[in-house]
Amino acid sequence: MKIMITGTRTGIGRALAEYLLAAGHEVVGCSRKPGTIEHVRYDHHRVDLTDGVALKALFRELRHTHGHLDALINNAGTSVMNHFMLTPEETTRRLFDLNFFAVLNCCREAVKLLRRSAQPTTAILALSTVAVPWALDGHLAYSTSKAAVEQLVRVMSKELADQRIRVNGLGVPPVGTVLTRTVPTERIDGLVARQAIKRLCTTADLVGPVEFLIGPGSAFVTGETIFLGGVN
Ligand SMILES: NC(=O)c1ccc[n+]([C@@H]2O[C@H](COP(=O)([O-])OP(=O)(O)OC[C@H]3O[C@@H](n4cnc5c(N)ncnc54)[C@H](OP(=O)(O)O)[C@@H]3O)[C@@H](O)[C@H]2O)c1
Repeated sequence: MKIMITGTRTGIGRALAEYLLAAGHEVVGCSRKPGTIEHVRYDHHRVDLTDGVALKALFRELRHTHGHLDALINNAGTSVMNHFMLTPEETTRRLFDLNFFAVLNCCREAVKLLRRSAQPTTAILALSTVAVPWALDGHLAYSTSKAAVEQLVRVMSKELADQRIRVNGLGVPPVGTVLTRTVPTERIDGLVARQAIKRLCTTADLVGPVEFLIGPGSAFVTGETIFLGGVN
């Protein structure tokens, strides 16, 4: 499959790209800074996804160079952690620009390339977080942006079903990446203790669910956000 993953320079995006390349797929990745993956089937693009004009130009280029996509994984995202009374409006707006509006814009542009796929169904996947169902304090901006993504998944799944495009979410507990580097260890330990499976999630834990949600095995699954680790 030809899979686009946003935010592949570090963390989950990079790990997923490496796993999917090793599994034989072709991966198109992007980030603001230069790429960190060297692979014959990997194509990296530098773009700030919060710049709508640059985002459209990227997809125009992909149409010329790749022709189609079989799956889009909306991974690029950021978080801030602070009491909402101490979070400036501008900070929340910037976070929504990446976590929600860039996802919406990537989906809109990717649909035009997914329609050109020869696969029986194609897939859009978006990453969410346990901060949504757990309504974590200190995460108002982050969790509301991801709650919006989960709603995007539900609505878009209906609006794209007749085009054979499935839209799902993956709800992820804490994983050790740049994003969680500054979160105090006691806070992470407290979150892990709330999971049914009481160990830290690794990027390897994401691979099976991601392969399922973008692959033929989930041909009849759409509009779902699947949470890992047992969060309820
Ligand atoms: N880590 C966790 O514990 C955790 C838990 C739940 C959910 N998630 C979700 O998983 C996703 C990935 O998180 P992560 O932990 O892997 O984060 P990360 O290590 O900070 O990676 C984020 C990636 O996105 C890219 N990026 C950031 N801003 C961008 C922009 N404006 N335009 C294009 N690319 C941009 C970054 O590269 P550049 O800096 O070069 O742009 C980087 O490659 C996020 O959606 C996050 O909410 C993570």
